[in-house]
Amino acid sequence: MVKVDISGALGFLSEDEIRAIDTSKPLKELSTLYENGWTVVPSNYNDELATQVKNIAEKIQNESEVLVVLGIGGSYLGARAAIEYIISPNYNMLPKETPDILFAGNNVSGEYLEQIIELIGDRNFSVNVVSKSGSTIETAIALRFFKSMLSEKYGSQGLKDRLYVTSDIGSPLIKLAESEGYAYLEMPPEVGGRYSVLTVVGLLPCAVAGIDIDELMAGAKDEFENGVEEACLYAAARQVLYRKGKKIEMLACFEPAFRYTGEWWKQLFGESEGKESIGIFPAYADYSADLHSLGQLIQEGERTLLETFVSFEKPRVNPLVPGGDLHKDKISTIAGLDMHKINESASVAVKKAHIDGGVPVLELCLPEMSAKSFGALAYFFMRSVAVSALISGVNPFGQPGVEAYKKNLFSILGL
Ligand code: PA5
Repeated sequence: MVKVDISGALGFLSEDEIRAIDTSKPLKELSTLYENGWTVVPSNYNDELATQVKNIAEKIQNESEVLVVLGIGGSYLGARAAIEYIISPNYNMLPKETPDILFAGNNVSGEYLEQIIELIGDRNFSVNVVSKSGSTIETAIALRFFKSMLSEKYGSQGLKDRLYVTSDIGSPLIKLAESEGYAYLEMPPEVGGRYSVLTVVGLLPCAVAGIDIDELMAGAKDEFENGVEEACLYAAARQVLYRKGKKIEMLACFEPAFRYTGEWWKQLFGESEGKESIGIFPAYADYSADLHSLGQLIQEGERTLLETFVSFEKPRVNPLVPGGDLHKDKISTIAGLDMHKINESASVAVKKAHIDGGVPVLELCLPEMSAKSFGALAYFFMRSVAVSALISGVNPFGQPGVEAYKKNLFSILGL
C-alpha cells in the first residue's frame, strides 16, 4: 500500500487546511462513477479474464521474439511504465526467454517507424494494436505498416494468427477484427484510456513480458480496499497547495526505472485535471540526473512549484561502493557504503534543500519496486486524481481539449 507523508509540506500548509477540504462528496461521486464511470475496479479481475490474457500471452511468447504494441496515450504508457518499473528500463537488452516489447503508433514520425522495423529485423514478431476508440490516427497509420509487414512475411493466415486487437466493444477496430479474423480483447467500455492500465490494455503486454499479472492485480485490489484515506490526503494536500499558488507539480523519483511511470502519471493527471482554465501542470523529474538540469530552477526559480517524491524502502539489489587503492580521491571514505543508503541520503539532502528554497515536498512511500507495488501505485494515482479533480470542480473523466488538434490535423490531411 502507498503511504503518504506530508511533513515536507507542513511549512506551507496546515493539517487544519487539509481537514477543511471535504473529500466525502468527491468520494461519493466517485462511487457512482465506478458503476457507470471511467475507473476500473480491480475486483472485476477474475479467473476468466486472467486465463484469457495468459493464454494469448503464452501463444505470443511461443511464436514470437518480438511483440510490437501499437497505441498512444493511455493505450501504451501504462504497459510501458509497468514493464520498466517491474522489470527494467533495459528490458529489451536483458538476457531473457520472453519476447522483446517494442512500442509504435505513439507518434507520426517515419524515422521512428523505420527504426522499429529495423529493430525487428528477421525476427518473428506479433502485433498488439490497442485503441479504445479504434480510430486514433497515430495508431491507425502504424497499423497499416505492421499489417502489411505481417502479411508479406507470414501470408494472410499468418496475419490473422499474429495480430491481436484490444479495443472497445463495437469500435471500428473490433469490427475489423471480426470481419478480418483477428483475435481480440475487449476493453471495459466504462474505463477511460488513461485509467486502463489495470485492464487488458496493460495486462497483455505485461503478461507477454513475463510479469505476474495476478500479483499486479492483487496490489491494486489491496490499494482499492485499504488505500482510500491516503489517496484523499494526497488529493487534498495538492489542492490546498494549488490554492496557495503552487501551480506546477514535479513528480520525482530516484530510480530511473520509474521514468515511464512518470510519463504515464503526466497524462493521467494532466488530462484529468487540466480543464475549464484550471489544473496543476504535471511535470516529471528523474533524480539525481535532472538535479543537474532542472535543479537550479527548482531551487531558485519562480515559487510556483510543489514536489512529490516517490521512494522505495527496499532496493532490489544493493551493491557496495568499491574500496581499495585503485581510485583515491576525496570521496574515498564512502567505500563500502551501500548504494541504497547513498540514494536515500540524496533524497533527504534534496528534500531539505528544496523545502528551504520554498518548495513544499509531499512523499509517497512504497515497500519496494514489484508487480504488487506497481498495481497499488497505479490504483492510488487513479483514485487520487479523480478525487483531486472533483475537489476542484472538474470532471476527471473527459478530455474534450484533445480533440482540437485532431480536428485540425484531419482537416489539413483532407480526411
Ligand atoms: O485518456 C484517454 O482516453 C486518451 O488520452 C487516450 O488514451 C488516447 O487519446 C488514445 O486514445 P485511443 O485509445 O482511443 O486510441
